[in-house]
Amino acid sequence: MFQYIKENENYKNLINGQWIGTEDFIKIKCPYKNLILGSIPKMKTEDIDKVISSAKEAQKNWSSIGVNERAKILHKAASLLEANCDYLSKILMMEIGKDINSSISEVKRTADFIRFTADAGKNLEGETISADNFPGFKKNKISFAQRVPLGVVLAISPFNYPINLSASKIAPALIGGNSVILKPPTQGAISALHLVKIFQEAGIPDGVINTVTGKSSQIGDYIVTHPDINFINFTGSSQVGKHIAKVAGMVPMMMELGGKDAAIVLSDADLADAADEIVSGAFSYSGQRCTAIKRVIAEESIADDLASLILEGVKKLTVGSPEEGSTITPLIDTAAADFVEELIDDAITKGAVMLHGNKRSENTLYPTLFDKVTSDMRIAWEEPFGPVLPIIRVKDKFEAITLANKSEYGLQSCVFTKNINDAFYIANKLEVGAVQINNKSERGPDNFPFSGVKSSGMGTQGIKYSIEAMTRLKSIVLTIDSCES
Ligand code: NAP
Ligand code: G3P
Repeated sequence: MFQYIKENENYKNLINGQWIGTEDFIKIKCPYKNLILGSIPKMKTEDIDKVISSAKEAQKNWSSIGVNERAKILHKAASLLEANCDYLSKILMMEIGKDINSSISEVKRTADFIRFTADAGKNLEGETISADNFPGFKKNKISFAQRVPLGVVLAISPFNYPINLSASKIAPALIGGNSVILKPPTQGAISALHLVKIFQEAGIPDGVINTVTGKSSQIGDYIVTHPDINFINFTGSSQVGKHIAKVAGMVPMMMELGGKDAAIVLSDADLADAADEIVSGAFSYSGQRCTAIKRVIAEESIADDLASLILEGVKKLTVGSPEEGSTITPLIDTAAADFVEELIDDAITKGAVMLHGNKRSENTLYPTLFDKVTSDMRIAWEEPFGPVLPIIRVKDKFEAITLANKSEYGLQSCVFTKNINDAFYIANKLEVGAVQINNKSERGPDNFPFSGVKSSGMGTQGIKYSIEAMTRLKSIVLTIDSCES
């Protein structure tokens, strides 16, 4: 059984095939018990130059290895990940406080993601285009357009899926012929370093995959503005994403950012089904998902019944330790718990009807449900990233659409109705990356296009789309002399 890192040790970064430490470290604490899981290197800007130059050099050879060979290595990485699922899911659980079942799912989903990516890479195609379909050009000019890598991809992942959202950048970048520098979240870095070790074990050559850890305030701007970074693939908060987009300048990037996904419930919906989807969509992993349902917009005529059904579901949620498989577990840190509490206090002060919750024990926020939330309350607009759900009442679907679109975010939304015409009417009007009909918002399956508009991001993630984003069409144009003249 593979075991690279044991609890409570000083972890290292992978730089040009070597695991290298630094003098300064950042301690990583378990979010739900008094335990130091280990320390990760606090790199300095001068260390980063070395990482980037090795990634740049190694990419040249990697891109000349056939896609079929690259795919074999990715398949091996997927198998290793699965073989070590038990160990990895425990590390993940202890580092980010995700319940054990969801941690296992994250590891398994990642193995599936890597396999699917390897196969999708083999299906990438270019095209030949004849010139005679454009006015003024003759048939003897042909463009051979092929997908080529961009170069060095900087992957920056968030704390809530440190394995999956690191791999969902690494695997498509690698199959496309790029080298990768992974900057994992600080809380989540141990899990992500394990993932990288697995790619190394699977046979990714030295320098093709590298890691950088440290304080974002010290190294963040340096790395995102480095001239040898050819693509930035970022998932995280809208605030940090916007900052990176501003400072990085003219480098292509993909941004998957925050959300305020609405569940719009019309009067003809199956309310019991809608309530089930809403409770699981809003509260799994304590609401720490970008695609969590973060507001319910209900037609007034069914709002009382819907609120009662949601309340029933909320009361059944388990609160406790990730090790027991509880849905509601301590949030990632005290700052996150304080922020959610602030939003709850604001809603109470402004007169929201609290149906359940508003209880805190250290960093555990009990699931909290508000009804009759109004537009002057922060919880109507801000992303809590915690277990609190507002119900907002509207008179009809038109008001629901207006309210949903007033949000600065545009990740996903859901519509619950039995009327297919209403479902498509609303779906077409919503300013979001995807609309789920009679289902909670969610990213998967991972081969679907996943994107956000407005403050929720730019570019499209999803296996084929991620590979396309991290490759470009390069054209070689051939002019053939005519044999007839
Ligand atoms: P975050 O604070 O924005 O951090 C995301 C990543 O960016 C971390 O690796 C972080 O490193 C790094 N970072 C922070 N400042 C940086 C800088 N100046 N330059 C370069 N990197 C920097 O987000 P989070 O708290 O981890 O995740 C929660 C947020 O992510 C929520 O808003 C959620 O909605 C969003 N999210 C979106 C999606 C999506 O697909 N749309 C998916 C998951 C999460 P450190 O940890 O070292 O600070
Ligand atoms: O917050 C991570 C985001 O990508 C959501 O993924 O699978 O929980 O919908 P998922």
